Amino acid sequence: MKLLLLNGPNLQLLGTREPAVYGIETLTSIMDRARKLAAELGCELCDFQSNHEGELLDRIGRAGKDGFDGIVINPAAFTHTSVALRDAIAGVALPAVEVHLSNVEARDEFRRQSFTAPVCVGVIAGFGGDSYLLAIRALVAHLNKLKK
Ligand code: DQA
Repeated sequence: MKLLLLNGPNLQLLGTREPAVYGIETLTSIMDRARKLAAELGCELCDFQSNHEGELLDRIGRAGKDGFDGIVINPAAFTHTSVALRDAIAGVALPAVEVHLSNVEARDEFRRQSFTAPVCVGVIAGFGGDSYLLAIRALVAHLNKLKK
């Protein structure tokens, strides 16, 4: 199984970005843990971070062609703004799991709206870097069920 893990804007700043909200773990460290877990689950994981919406759209749009079986995505601020990302996820028809480090439900009112969540299988939020690991486990379990 091949998984695509996408990270949206400003997540390259993890480690120093608002540590009280996002913790002190860097994106590199979280992605290392994610790759390790994926390997333990028998999957290959490719991760990509971009501050540019179009680059994320391009990766989603060609995910099927690139041989991916599913997507884990932290759209970051684009969660709350991007109809284009929502349409891309809906358009590729690959199962996707939305991830957030923080509990977006417990923060600003505007973070409670997600354009992308309705086209994802589910959302995992509030567990810091561990949210990604939980999302990988959830996506792999979902994909295994689809295979049966
Ligand atoms: C975030 C939550 C978003 O509201 C915010 O814009 C981010 C990070 C999270 O992982 O908690 O950039 O997606």
